[in-house]
Amino acid sequence: PAQNPGSTSLVLDPADGVVLLDDSFTADPYPLYELLRTQRPVTRARMPLGPSFWLVTRYEDVRAGLTDPRLVKDAGRLAEVIRRASGIPEDAASADMALHDHMLNSDPPRHTRLRKLVNKAFTGRAIGQLRPRIEVLATELTEAMAARLAAGEQAVDLVEDYAFPLPMTVICEILGVPEGRRREFGSWSHTILSAASPEQHAAASAAMGEYLNQLVADKLANPGADILSAILAPDEDADRLTHVEATAMASLLLVAGHETTVNLIGSGVLALLRNPGQLARLRADPALLPGAVEEFLRLESPVNVATMRFAAEPVTIGGTTIPAGEVVLLGIGSANRDPELFERPGELDLDRARGGSLAFGHGIHHCLGAALARLEGEIAFRVLLERFPTLTLAVDPSELSWHNSILLRGLARLPVRADG
Ligand code: HEM
Repeated sequence: PAQNPGSTSLVLDPADGVVLLDDSFTADPYPLYELLRTQRPVTRARMPLGPSFWLVTRYEDVRAGLTDPRLVKDAGRLAEVIRRASGIPEDAASADMALHDHMLNSDPPRHTRLRKLVNKAFTGRAIGQLRPRIEVLATELTEAMAARLAAGEQAVDLVEDYAFPLPMTVICEILGVPEGRRREFGSWSHTILSAASPEQHAAASAAMGEYLNQLVADKLANPGADILSAILAPDEDADRLTHVEATAMASLLLVAGHETTVNLIGSGVLALLRNPGQLARLRADPALLPGAVEEFLRLESPVNVATMRFAAEPVTIGGTTIPAGEVVLLGIGSANRDPELFERPGELDLDRARGGSLAFGHGIHHCLGAALARLEGEIAFRVLLERFPTLTLAVDPSELSWHNSILLRGLARLPVRADG
């Protein structure tokens, strides 16, 4: 029978011996990861009611899996898995599927071509130029929270009022989405993440797809100074994204650009509030910030349970053979807590030597936005800590809830108070 992950045996579905990722896993996946790494490092697993897949949890295996050419993305199959997992009916799916047919879901040579076309616009220089603007946005958001607290509100929600709008606004500016339309983006994105029904999900997806399609058409006709316009321009070989490819790329950037960074900020603030000694050190020495951001990403990796691949042929990992055609999840969140690589992996340690974390992936799909995410994180933490010399959790830690997702790990809300 099913067991509590805090106990010493695996949580197995009594019906088929598959590891079950249930509510207790969502609340705290780390005890189960630890058991899996030591007892069953390559296992079949599933969410309650969901289809089963393979889950890889050891650092070395996850890292090797990320560069294994036999573990492929296969955009068409992936889209089908996503459609089924979100319960979208087949006939309503085509617009949604086109949006998923993007670089992150592609294999070489298609991936190589798409990545080259976007790399030319996503340079370190282009990202660095966003710094002053991100600082202004972070300052505006902290001032708005401070004003509400000063007016007597008991608490603000650090996710909804800060961690979400900051990267969302930045990615909208990168895409050149006019200010008046950004609120809609936020609401589509919320609906897609936590839709009450497949119909709602499909409607929000379709609305977003339609908007992005029009946005690309406008940028092609009237290029601006934004990064999307640069992405759409031909490269030195006169190659360029088609309209359909550009729309899927915009959708990828939009989703990847904020659904992850929101969790870096939310989970990082929670880690600091749980570790007052480390928080005090960071306040006293802002030079620790870049290392702190790496440590937050390691400790509570936003792409947590896994990124998804298919076995193109039978693949043996850690002595277990995964048959061809099966879905393989490479467990980044578990890898980043593997004691083989990280001492006392469950502890927040701002002095931890940097390097080795798989939070941004590894190999050809290594995160395109890593420099942007690090910059956003650094600014977000610095501005927040400067503006609020005291920051405390406004609810009991047992009341915190995490999104229920096999891809992303993040807090649904983080109510905080700033006294004094
Ligand atoms: C890919 C993590 C922020 C854009 C990835 C991958 C990971 C990741 C793990 C690889 C997935 C795989 O191999 O299947 C993160 C984390 C972030 C973050 C933890 C924030 C803390 C961003 C931002 C952007 C972005 C801000 C964009 C503006 C992308 C894109 C890819 C990607 C386009 C696909 C790259 C490819 O397929 O070649 N990210 N990401 N990410 N990320 Fe990020």
